[in-house]
Amino acid sequence: MKRFIFGLFVIAFFTKSLFAGEGMWIPMLLNGANEREMREMGMKITADDIYSLNHSSMKDAVVLFSRGCTAEIVSDQALLFTNHHCGFSEIQKHSSLENDYITNGFWATNNKEELPNPGLTVTMLMQMEDVTDFALMGVTKEMTEVQRKEKIAVNSKAICEKAKERSGFDAEVRPFFQDNKFYLLYKQVFKDIRLVGAPPSMIGKFGGDTDNWMWPRHTGDFSVFRIYVGKDNKPADYSADNVPFKPNYHFPISLKGVEENDFTFVFGYPARTSEYLPSYAIALTTEKSNPHRVDLRGMRLDIFNKYSATDQKVKIQYASKDAGVSNGWKKMIGESKGIKRLNGVEKKQMQEDDFIRWTNADESRKAKYGGLIHAFETTYTKYEPLKIAGDFMSEAGYGIEIVSFVSKFQALIDESAKANVDATKMDKLLKGLQSQTKSFFKDYHQPIDREVATALISYYIANQSVDFRPSFLNTINAQSKQTISDYVNKLFDKTLFVDEAAVNALLIDFNMKKIRKITQDPVYQIVMSLKDFNEIQIQKPLKTIGTSLDSLQRIYMQAQMEMQSEKQFYPDANSSLRIAYGKVGGFSPADAVYYNYFTTLDGIIEKENPEVFDYVLDEKIKSIYYTKDFGPYADKDGKMRIAFAASNHTTGGNSGSPVLNAEGQLVGINFDRCWEGTMSDLMYDPAMCRNISVDVRYVLFVIDNYAGAHHLIEEMTLIK
Ligand code: ARG
Ligand code: GLU
Repeated sequence: MKRFIFGLFVIAFFTKSLFAGEGMWIPMLLNGANEREMREMGMKITADDIYSLNHSSMKDAVVLFSRGCTAEIVSDQALLFTNHHCGFSEIQKHSSLENDYITNGFWATNNKEELPNPGLTVTMLMQMEDVTDFALMGVTKEMTEVQRKEKIAVNSKAICEKAKERSGFDAEVRPFFQDNKFYLLYKQVFKDIRLVGAPPSMIGKFGGDTDNWMWPRHTGDFSVFRIYVGKDNKPADYSADNVPFKPNYHFPISLKGVEENDFTFVFGYPARTSEYLPSYAIALTTEKSNPHRVDLRGMRLDIFNKYSATDQKVKIQYASKDAGVSNGWKKMIGESKGIKRLNGVEKKQMQEDDFIRWTNADESRKAKYGGLIHAFETTYTKYEPLKIAGDFMSEAGYGIEIVSFVSKFQALIDESAKANVDATKMDKLLKGLQSQTKSFFKDYHQPIDREVATALISYYIANQSVDFRPSFLNTINAQSKQTISDYVNKLFDKTLFVDEAAVNALLIDFNMKKIRKITQDPVYQIVMSLKDFNEIQIQKPLKTIGTSLDSLQRIYMQAQMEMQSEKQFYPDANSSLRIAYGKVGGFSPADAVYYNYFTTLDGIIEKENPEVFDYVLDEKIKSIYYTKDFGPYADKDGKMRIAFAASNHTTGGNSGSPVLNAEGQLVGINFDRCWEGTMSDLMYDPAMCRNISVDVRYVLFVIDNYAGAHHLIEEMTLIK
């Protein structure tokens, strides 16, 4: 009897309806439980409309943009929508003082004016296939994890070669469910991608880092590109003769907008989640690793901000660095808070207790899974100091700009030390360093770096014991009683790497003398100290521990699926194409506070502040905003909606993803998550997790009324 009751408890604890919005599903596997649920939630189309190999389907219009974002095709001439922050580096590269597209935006008035972007690609998934049986062929239970991985790598290579030969497409085998499943992905990579338009940062980055990761939000975070191909409609390198790609499918755009509780789904390339980790990993990330990293980044941001506040040039120089440092900083704060509020570690511990009981209830399970949780505990105990040491090395060591700049010279020194120096390779390295030197000094303010170095090194020494820090830190006040700031000042006074002319001189007529100059430089010696420390004290022990963790994680994943055999599992994100679905809705971030699900132009006007960079609006934008005649882009109350929140489960990489309504029409472009829900990479909470999308009607309004690019609107398929 007792056992029966216990059984019930297990099921009640683990069976949750799929309905809550959690999950990043594989598009080819939607038919079945997912499709049923999606239709119950309001979807009017079928799984076959979303992913099909027999006819054109929506998957033909969703692409991986560069390596870390998503974009969608919105016209039969392959016009692409993605985020402003995804296209930002292209917008920036085309910008100069005369043509400042960051500040003023950019709009091509015809195809000829669309700007090529060497190196930028978009990747389209052609087909997906379960190849688990082939990938695991010859893999035995007796194999070590390393042998298993090697065998799978060999099998995967053979699978890809055959697939390429058969299809003519690029092919890749990727692991899912912690190496329990393997899928073959056929892909097409397009290499001629041109910039068509971008709003000014006052629109595309409105709210900046102040509003980043937060709701309510008023950012018009979009930019417009186009795919070009050869005359045969196949991917080709850039050529002036290339023509716009004719896609199999493009998304129609709805002008109807969304209302609370409307069904939506997000189709895109989420990069990484870790939903199936044990409690030890969650505790390590949110209670140990994040807090140090947050402190270290916070110190850098404070110093950046102190200098930026009084110096406009520095503000521009550090804008992009600040955005990068701050994006991760804010995300980690939100993630740790979110897990704490959810009692995430305790929740995982309860699941583990249940798991142990389930394992012990059956002899064969005991043989397979007994001791798993305990093994996690001991392995994570060994892993923890190494993980933290790695965090310090990257956040504090390489957080010093001059250190990370000089680390780029390592490859040159390594190559020059070879018995047979490859002259072309050397030449390439030297050229590369010349251009890196130029861009480094363009945005380098030495007083900031001195202060950052002093702060980071002090924190490093105070928080990492002698055995877990690189040797250079242990020499600082060994002999003399110098302070850390004395040490740093001496270092910066002595190194030649803070002097642009001196660095450039190193890179012409490269010879032995110059090699010696580099290797004897005190900053280069710091780089070497970090490198040795990393190789010997971190990577070497990590190799075995990391493999054990992979093995434990793989077995635990398999065990969880066996234990909850009635539950539908989704694999962790791995930059492959996924579907998340949920409902439009607000949420309550704190006691007595409720956030509505959409924002309007009124909020932009409210936030406007000529004193605060993130909230500045110029006259042109204001005059358009104040017209109040939003034509077909207004909502039913005549208002201009800017962004909306919904419960789709998204993560980094989903930026730029199409947000689609029940009919599969485009209603928004995903660009962020709310702060209270950023722990969804580790644990999803339906009450708090919301993705943030720019309302596509605002995107069209900006293109049409602000940019006057009506010809682009004409290309699109609008549903009134
Ligand atoms: N938080 C979003 C993401 O993770 C947007 C980042 C870009 N925006 C910014 N203000 N830094 O990518
Ligand atoms: N801004 C993120 C990106 O660039 C998406 C937001 C998220 O992490 O959910 O992919």
